[in-house]
Amino acid sequence: MNPRIKITGISGSLRDNSSNTNILRQLAAMIPAEIDFTIYNGIGGLPHFNPELDGEKPPIPVESFRQLLKETDAVIICTPEYAFGVPGSLKNALDWTVSSGELVNKPLALITASLSGGKAHAALLDTLTALSTNITEERSLLISFIRSKLDEKGFIKVPELLRALQTLLRSLAETCRQEHNSR
Ligand SMILES: Cc1cc2nc3c(=O)[nH]c(=O)nc-3n(C[C@H](O)[C@H](O)[C@H](O)COP(=O)(O)O)c2cc1C
Repeated sequence: MNPRIKITGISGSLRDNSSNTNILRQLAAMIPAEIDFTIYNGIGGLPHFNPELDGEKPPIPVESFRQLLKETDAVIICTPEYAFGVPGSLKNALDWTVSSGELVNKPLALITASLSGGKAHAALLDTLTALSTNITEERSLLISFIRSKLDEKGFIKVPELLRALQTLLRSLAETCRQEHNSR
């Protein structure tokens, strides 16, 4: 029997009460029951990317991160924009996968939830293309003015946004199922 489908969420914000992490938590509740969804919260603990550390024995947090990505069927990145760009800790995490290739052909969904966010979203789409991930338009969602779309507890209060997230999840889950069944 095929093992269960695994999806990993990565938030680009390290804040405790992050809108992006809250969105991932809500996706966890929306995900189909046959899929395991976990949020990886270790990007803040990865060392700064240095090609000289990326040899036979990379740093332990990097090894664990790579192993987790290897074992996951798909990844959902949900991130804010900082200073018109991608948060450094998220870009750093992605840089650690360039030489080892865990994200090559991996089904990906990208959500940028920020005040505006367009620049980080475009830059990340470029990076995810450079990494040869399997990302499609259906699985790419830019949410501007995010704070006005969440209630005081961090829950999404805009029905169209919930529907857009459902569509994105459906597309990702379907891709995972197809890949899973073809193994
Ligand atoms: C240092 C800093 C820089 C920011 N720069 C931008 C920016 O360039 N574009 C943008 O859309 N939002 C920017 N923001 C606002 C964030 O989008 C907003 O704080 C968002 O809620 C952060 O995501 P989080 O709630 O998941 O932590 C910035 C916030 C901080 C703290």
